[in-house]
Amino acid sequence: MKIAIDGPAGAGKSTLARWLAEKLNYIYIDTGAMYRALTWEALRKEIDIHNAAILAELARTTDIHFTIDSRSQRVICNGIDVTEQIRSPEVNSAVSQVAAHAEVRQLMVSKQQQMAQAVAVVMDGRDIGECVLPDANYKFYITASIEERTRRRAAELKSSGYEVNEQNISQEIQNRDYNDTHRTTGALKVLEDSIIVDTSNLTIEEALNTLLEIIGR
Ligand code: CDP
Repeated sequence: MKIAIDGPAGAGKSTLARWLAEKLNYIYIDTGAMYRALTWEALRKEIDIHNAAILAELARTTDIHFTIDSRSQRVICNGIDVTEQIRSPEVNSAVSQVAAHAEVRQLMVSKQQQMAQAVAVVMDGRDIGECVLPDANYKFYITASIEERTRRRAAELKSSGYEVNEQNISQEIQNRDYNDTHRTTGALKVLEDSIIVDTSNLTIEEALNTLLEIIGR
């Protein structure tokens, strides 16, 4: 059983995917965290994020994996726990540029397909339904209004101790959405078999129940 969850930035995909996986007892794979970890590594090494060849080499040589501690999933990049750092505003503004390189995507997609092999998974990202799990049993497209997505991202950053400016956050989300929907490979799009769920007016519990109801049918 494979469940693909795609959608724009800040639509609540990750929380929803994690909760859904917990409820169904499936493995949760946060593919955004992998692009974020690679971006974090590129920024740390002061690599030019527009240089496709160097980034592809970095993607080939960077070990990114997940571990589970007593409460949560941790993201480990070359042996360093980067779970918190990959949500920083710096990574937010650079990640969609790193993720636009075709060769980087190829490497990530094949890693993700290996991770999903022979296990029941809920995977979230941008190209899951189209590229990573084209045979997924369910392909959800989770979205919400830009105002709601901005509010959620602002609250998330605030709770991590960052100073927030809603106007900047809204702009950053819109830039990222633009990059993610306009790249040549693995662009975010609604597929023919996508099930669209707009969470603008739903709490996370309500959104989860909507998904569970569809799966239960
Ligand atoms: O949590 P949020 O929706 O803001 O982002 P995310 O899922 O952590 O993904 C961060 C970025 O990684 C996206 O804006 C994409 O540029 C990239 N990404 C991607 O290209 N393909 C994926 N399967 C997942 C993420």
